[in-house]
Amino acid sequence: MHSFQPVDFEQMEINPFRMIGRDWMLVTAGNEEKANTMTASWGGVGIMWGKNVAYVFIRESRFTKEFVDREGRFSLSFPEEKYRKEMKFLGAVSGRDEDKIKEAGVHVAYYNGVPYIDEGSMVMICRVMSRTPIRKEQFLDDSIDKSWYASGDYHDMYIAEITDILAR
Ligand SMILES: Cc1cc2nc3c(=O)[nH]c(=O)nc-3n(C[C@H](O)[C@H](O)[C@H](O)COP(=O)(O)O)c2cc1C
Repeated sequence: MHSFQPVDFEQMEINPFRMIGRDWMLVTAGNEEKANTMTASWGGVGIMWGKNVAYVFIRESRFTKEFVDREGRFSLSFPEEKYRKEMKFLGAVSGRDEDKIKEAGVHVAYYNGVPYIDEGSMVMICRVMSRTPIRKEQFLDDSIDKSWYASGDYHDMYIAEITDILAR
């Protein structure tokens, strides 16, 4: 497998509906000693505060959230379809309970100290710019709370500058 190289943002063909919504991504954070990852299928990319940004939504219960909050940096990796089973596993088991990265058989690599999952064709390296709690009182559509938050486990919205896009 070729190693990842930084690429020009404007050359990337990114379809968020396909890449995030259908194919899913892995949100990875931590340091050289310990990193954690989780599957995410909600989020987006766009422009904010004059930067290229990613939006990710992480529920309060996620172990990965602790790493994102502590480090202020994370990555998004986009594994291919052949890793679907691994992504289901990484999205069902918590790193709090098991060494799930090892069990899934995926590998952590680093770019400027930011961990990412090496299986896949593209990685976005991100720097957190804001964290906004998404809570019941903000919903204008009454169905959202009961559809998605019956457990009381709300999302925080992260807006993060995409500092680098890596491709093979
Ligand atoms: C397809 C899929 C998409 C998911 N999307 C999200 C998401 O966008 N935000 C989130 O907080 N959890 C999401 N999850 C759930 C987490 O991946 C899951 O709770 C994971 O076990 C958290 O691991 P952790 O506790 O090690 O961080 C998703 C799970 C799957 C299978």
